[in-house]
Amino acid sequence: WPAIAPIVHAINVLKKERNAVILAHNYMTPEIYHGVADVVGDSLQLAREATKSEADVIVQCGVHFMAETSKILNPDKTVLIPDIKAGCSLAESITAADVRELRRKHPGVPIVTYVNTSADVKAECDICCTSANAVQVVESLGAPRVLLIPDQYLAANVARQTDVEILTWAGACEVHERFTAEELREYREIEPDVKIIAHPECPPEVVDEADFAGSTSGMIDWVKQNNPKKVMLVTECSMADNVASETPGVDYVRPCNLCPHMKRITLSKILDALVEMKDEVLVDPEIAARARVSVERMINLKS
Ligand code: 13P
Ligand code: SF4
Repeated sequence: WPAIAPIVHAINVLKKERNAVILAHNYMTPEIYHGVADVVGDSLQLAREATKSEADVIVQCGVHFMAETSKILNPDKTVLIPDIKAGCSLAESITAADVRELRRKHPGVPIVTYVNTSADVKAECDICCTSANAVQVVESLGAPRVLLIPDQYLAANVARQTDVEILTWAGACEVHERFTAEELREYREIEPDVKIIAHPECPPEVVDEADFAGSTSGMIDWVKQNNPKKVMLVTECSMADNVASETPGVDYVRPCNLCPHMKRITLSKILDALVEMKDEVLVDPEIAARARVSVERMINLKS
């Protein structure tokens, strides 16, 4: 902390001068999460907070699709991302042309897009969802069959919780698809009292091994409410680091996987973003208007 304290201080001073708010995803490193973020949360919470902010500038500490979502919801605000290259394997797995082709092949079937997609893709879909509300969103459509894209594993996990028939796409999160059911069984043998908590971007056979599955904030809430002695968070590594200081009695058992895209966001890049007002995230207004319909439909669903 002593080495980074001046950067944290400089960011917090500049934030006030610029009337900026820092929205940080749960996968940010602890110095961002605890040191400079104004709001932390999962994708759904960050999207909701983006609609409430009175700031002139939003600094999105997360990946590009999250910054685009903030811009879609705040066309008149300046949205900055500290590293424009912070992508996502799910967002990159599908294009707007792919969605148009899906519509042609499945006429009349509503299309739900996971929020982990580009604005172009959101603009072609009927409604967004996140891992926190995917079942609710699918069921809100009142259709017997729904396309839930682009995460094949989230779709498979949702399909097991609803009577709606789920069609999907072959996308996957490069962080969560790497966990295997076998490794979790091995950890349980070594640590029989460990509680295993998984993100629904993991394959269904991995989720089957877990005591609970939920969004990143759902996972954090579960740990705080259940206060297990030992827990394994089957997700990105910073989650355990961030929540550890708030749950002193809990022992966090690894493994975890790093998201190389999330890890592009660093304190020094956040400072540069505020000093130079870069990199600005822009979305074509016509695309943004159509994408906003999908995002707002999701946000307006009663939770
Ligand atoms: P959450 O919405 O659960 O925070 O997930 C976002 C994400 O990118 C997980 O990999
Ligand atoms: Fe995308 Fe996976 Fe990284 Fe989340 S963890 S941003 S889904 S690659």
